[in-house]
Amino acid sequence: MQIHKKPIPLQQLLDEDLDSVCKDLAQEFSKMAGGRLLITGGGGFLGYYLVQSALHWNRTRSTGAKIDVTVYDNYMRGVPAWLEGLRNQPNLTLVRHDMILPLPKDMPHFDYIIHAAGIASPMYYRAQPLKCIDANINGIRNLFDYAVNERNAGRALQGFLFYSSSEIYGDPIASAIPTPETYRGNVSCTGPRACYDESKRFGETLCVTFAKQEGIPARIARPFNNYGPGLKITDGRVLPDFASDVLAGRDIVMLSDGSPKRTFCYATDAIVGYYKVLVRGQDGEAYNVGIDRPEISVAQLGGAVVSSAQELFGYNGKVVLGKAKEADYLVDNPERRCPVIDKARTQLGYDPKVLVDEGVRRSLIWYSHNRTAEAA
Ligand SMILES: NC(=O)c1ccc[n+]([C@@H]2O[C@H](COP(=O)([O-])OP(=O)(O)OC[C@H]3O[C@@H](n4cnc5c(N)ncnc54)[C@H](O)[C@@H]3O)[C@@H](O)[C@H]2O)c1
Repeated sequence: MQIHKKPIPLQQLLDEDLDSVCKDLAQEFSKMAGGRLLITGGGGFLGYYLVQSALHWNRTRSTGAKIDVTVYDNYMRGVPAWLEGLRNQPNLTLVRHDMILPLPKDMPHFDYIIHAAGIASPMYYRAQPLKCIDANINGIRNLFDYAVNERNAGRALQGFLFYSSSEIYGDPIASAIPTPETYRGNVSCTGPRACYDESKRFGETLCVTFAKQEGIPARIARPFNNYGPGLKITDGRVLPDFASDVLAGRDIVMLSDGSPKRTFCYATDAIVGYYKVLVRGQDGEAYNVGIDRPEISVAQLGGAVVSSAQELFGYNGKVVLGKAKEADYLVDNPERRCPVIDKARTQLGYDPKVLVDEGVRRSLIWYSHNRTAEAA
């Protein structure tokens, strides 16, 4: 992907990203063509490129079968402007539905289902823990019952993807970093993050059970710190917080001491991984989806944001230490998070390539066009 040292138009950024995703997913999208795909939570951050890449693939093929995309979302933070703008696109159906409730009675057949509905930001799930649990557990259970009924009616699904999380590993012991899928985790079942971590863990148990007992093609992705276009500036995650400071022209405020380390996976790489797990993953298996290098501290991420913002916008702020308003902000926050991605590499041909400097630059350009929550 091209490296940009100056801001570029939003459409150019999106086209470059979507072209790259579609190129890497040529085989998977060809296989899905002619089928119906349901994306729950498609109005969220990951939905941004999940939805748009499938539509981009449809648009850039003048002939042949298309992928028919349906989004179910309760739009708990409103219908995002980008999705509203796509409302009249061919092969896209938008349905307002809360996944905690029984599925719509007139639900048609879907060949592929991605269950991404959930409350992903710690700031939001700590405020609504029961809704977080219900979206992961009731939401997926309803979808599995639907999948079994479809199979019994002779219309078996081709693929079912559950969005789990790297948070199922909790705070890994030192010898389990980088973390392979075989690590069982070090997780609190009662702490402020438990509603998220434990409901993802039980969601995985349901996937394995429905795969084994009912033959449902349930596959699990464990995302590791994705960021990039589509992640709302008000989401409360680290990169949008830093971008918000940059665009307001103030110093970047770091709410920890800057020592926690992460690998940061740009959205295009992540989306390629998710579609590969959906289409090619083994039933009842979990795959880490992220990037394995470089593992950097939050302070180093702040430094990368400062230097990219200087280059792009002439920003002259610096990183300073601050304190979160929320008492639980850092409770059970893992010190290190870094995946082993050999399983996805060897089984699925997954090969993430956008390093953090480039991804940060692309994200800052995107945020410069999407400065408010409503915009994205
Ligand atoms: N982004 C990451 O780095 C990351 C990391 C680990 C796991 N995940 C998981 O991936 C999935 C998608 O994450 P995201 O970053 O796009 O989150 P997001 O918060 O940006 O989007 C989630 C979407 O789900 C919708 N939603 C929430 N509850 C719902 C419900 N009950 N019924 C219907 N819709 C509902 C929201 O309106 C939103 O549009 C989530 O399950 C999340 O836990 C994401």
